Amino acid sequence: MFLSQLSQQKVLPVLVLESVQQADWIGSCFIEAGMKHLEVTLRTPAALQVIEYLNRHFPELSIGAGTVLKSYQIAGAVDAGADFIVAPGATDPLLDAGQDCPVPFLPGVMTPSEAMRARDYGFGLQKFFPAEAAGGAHLLKAIGAPLQDILFCPTGGITPKNMMDYLALKNVPVVGGSWLVTPQILADNDRQSVVNRLSQLQQLLGK
Ligand code: 3PG
Repeated sequence: MFLSQLSQQKVLPVLVLESVQQADWIGSCFIEAGMKHLEVTLRTPAALQVIEYLNRHFPELSIGAGTVLKSYQIAGAVDAGADFIVAPGATDPLLDAGQDCPVPFLPGVMTPSEAMRARDYGFGLQKFFPAEAAGGAHLLKAIGAPLQDILFCPTGGITPKNMMDYLALKNVPVVGGSWLVTPQILADNDRQSVVNRLSQLQQLLGK
């Protein structure tokens, strides 16, 4: 269910939100643009409050907690109402905690060995990070030949220019990226830009 919905959306916006005030207008932009899934990174002091707020006020949205670095953060994010969890790496404690996690957990990987190890733990959808710096769509295509039962969400350096190269791959149902909601847009409270960007993205994806 989660995977099929995420595959339909094709792009997972990654956001760094500083306050529930930002969360309020950002949440309404996603509703207006008809986009369901977004990732809120745990990089600001308000991140958990933001997840809680979005979960309470926009129940139609599916909120991921991103930049999860420590295993205890998984429980904190789930308690705040996170619908899925994304990590930039795959430490032993994260892989262990991810197995007990009641919502989908995407560990971060960059090499075949890391991907195989995370697959052994049961994680069939993984964040490929940092995608462009690691070798981009070429690398993922090459990895896909032997590792046929692993799907990736490439993140890190994805842009409207290169995202289709990734989405053309069999092992890439969705890409992630922060380009849709920039720090400048947030600083300007520029709601219209976010709505426009999300709508343009939908058009680019043929929706
Ligand atoms: C992440 O948190 O997943 C990445 O930092 C997002 O990468 P980007 O800013 O290059 O899109």
